[in-house]
Amino acid sequence: MKKYIAISFLLLVFFSNAQTVQSPSKQITLDFKLIENGKPTYSATYKNKPVIATSRLGIKLKEGGDLMDGFSIDSVGQWTINETWKPVLGEQTNIKNNYNELTIALSQKATGRKINITFKAFDEGVAFRYEFPKQKNLNYFIISDEKSEFNLTGNHKTFWLPGDFDSQEYAYTESKLSEVSTDNIDKNNGINLKSIAGKYVIQSPLMMKSADGLYINIFEAAVINYPVMHLDLVPNEFKLTSHLVPNAIGYKAYLQTPCVSPWRTIMVSNDARDIVGSKIILNLNEPSKIEDASWIKPMKYVGVWWEMHVGKSTWDFAGSQNAQNAADGKLIPTGKHGATTENTKHYIDFAAKNGFDGVLVEGWNVGWEDWFGNWKENVFDFTTPYPDFDLKAVNDYAKSKGIKMIMHHETSGSVANYERHLDRAMDLMKKYGYPAVKSGYVGRIIPRGEFHDGQTMVNHFNYVAQRMAENKLMVNSHESSRPTGYSRTYPNYIAAEAARGNEFNAWSNGNPPMHETILPFTRLLGGPMDYTPGIFEIKMSFYDKTKTAQVHTTLAKQLALYVTMYSPLQMAADLPENYEKYADAFQFIKEVAVDWQDSKYLEAEPGDYLTVARKDKNSEKWFLGAITDENPRNTEIKLDFLSPNKKYKAIIYQDGKAAHWEKNPINYEIKTLTVTSKSKLKLVLAGGGGAAVSLEPVN
Ligand code: NOJ
Ligand code: CA
Repeated sequence: MKKYIAISFLLLVFFSNAQTVQSPSKQITLDFKLIENGKPTYSATYKNKPVIATSRLGIKLKEGGDLMDGFSIDSVGQWTINETWKPVLGEQTNIKNNYNELTIALSQKATGRKINITFKAFDEGVAFRYEFPKQKNLNYFIISDEKSEFNLTGNHKTFWLPGDFDSQEYAYTESKLSEVSTDNIDKNNGINLKSIAGKYVIQSPLMMKSADGLYINIFEAAVINYPVMHLDLVPNEFKLTSHLVPNAIGYKAYLQTPCVSPWRTIMVSNDARDIVGSKIILNLNEPSKIEDASWIKPMKYVGVWWEMHVGKSTWDFAGSQNAQNAADGKLIPTGKHGATTENTKHYIDFAAKNGFDGVLVEGWNVGWEDWFGNWKENVFDFTTPYPDFDLKAVNDYAKSKGIKMIMHHETSGSVANYERHLDRAMDLMKKYGYPAVKSGYVGRIIPRGEFHDGQTMVNHFNYVAQRMAENKLMVNSHESSRPTGYSRTYPNYIAAEAARGNEFNAWSNGNPPMHETILPFTRLLGGPMDYTPGIFEIKMSFYDKTKTAQVHTTLAKQLALYVTMYSPLQMAADLPENYEKYADAFQFIKEVAVDWQDSKYLEAEPGDYLTVARKDKNSEKWFLGAITDENPRNTEIKLDFLSPNKKYKAIIYQDGKAAHWEKNPINYEIKTLTVTSKSKLKLVLAGGGGAAVSLEPVN
């Protein structure tokens, strides 16, 4: 319910240049102030400790003067909101949305232009955005820069990614703010660094910890018709400023009033669990636009996928040389193609036998001989299968086994081409009954000169979600800009990659053991991630003796990721034969839920560890996941979240005594206990290890 507290738009009312809003708990205070020459500024404290020192707010425009100063206050509005809403799919059935709002209407004397700055103070953080009301002097306009500052008050520890406008697929660097520089990142990490914007440009969400134990996170919500916000750092001043991603000719955003910017968020708490469990980003997005969401279903899936990443088979049918050389243009098969009808049926059988919902097949459509790195415009048409992939036979077979097929649309960055083919591509999905698509945006963007994180591409990703929704289709995008809560508005946008996924462990120096302890504090705040956990054959030397790549976790930690890495779309990424080999451990993946009534963040420290318990949406079962970084960890978990007066059978999948992510990753043990809400569960995690627990009531 929106509670009206005080507002006045009466002329001649005097509004003080300083305004304040506090979080419902009163622990966070945000002060707004117009300083000399009408410059808007804000600052924020947590339990009276400074979090953001006086920081300027403003927007630079291509034409007609900037919106940086010369402002006076026209009116001030304050509201309180306290409501709950139900996500279609989610970590909990009910999400609380409770905040105090302060809206300051400003006008610029010299130009007569008006903007509002709205602040929302939640218990775990504050948010603000710029609003541009409809007005004569500001109709169509071009933002050349946004200058939102975040002046931090110390040399915080931070986990950062370089400001690459085309990719977030990096390992995090942990350092003090004063040590941030792209000179200090590992260059040998499997992707090219062509689009890095500058030495001190870093990505948001940015997770930090102050010397006195405050957890601070800077991010954004509801990025719609606007570019992604990266951050410029002045390292020794601990000062961050918004760095919007430019378009092909250097401007940031083309807008028309009335319109708004995305929300800029500053989460803060002395308890890391408040950050990782925060729903601020979802709360700052609009409610679902999909009235009948009954077709949006969580999914556990397997796929013709990892076998290509480990080199057992290929996406292409003919090999790049054959395709180029064949005189008659006919493709000559290499015999290594993964997406054959027969192989797909094998995965469908495996999925059906083990209770999965779906099967993804990559490399089913023509174009993969020459798909990457050439900046070619028309690589795929998204409708023509290779000769050895029988669309009808595969889909009929899947139907007969109760399995849904997941479509794959790799665009190779050619968005122009994808948009031209989108209707036909969706018609094909509907014809055969594919409920979902995994899309991909590997490589440089076409229209040429655009970045993955620019306004054009943000609009594309949102447009695809909307068009898929019109057609009752779900989407899981890879290499898209990172989500900022849009899945609340379009819950068919079921997951995205948009960070460095498990795949990097197959063919690069991989994701260090701390990686999965950071993602929930950063990437996951914006929405579910298709991380593709569940790799059991940890070392790639299993496939090829010469390979040194490996997954940087133990097997038990791969199980725990199904709980710590929230997504209603979860892949069991390894090969069927590997699951058959470790069938006892596979049991956890078969059982684990993907849609939840409730989630409890029990222990959390970014970069170190995370323990989460979640209750299945459709049963009384709980699942618990605990992970650690490279350091071993002993912990004792109170099971007081379980229903009282019930006994539970707990199956614990944990690291064996000799386990270690590098030296002995497949060493695990499984034990069964009877527990109650009064029990404490001792867990012993190996270096790079984890534990996964299923808890089922028995009385
Ligand atoms: C990168 C994606 O992240 C991966 O999952 C996919 O297999 C390849 N692109 C090919 O589309
Ligand atoms: Ca990827």
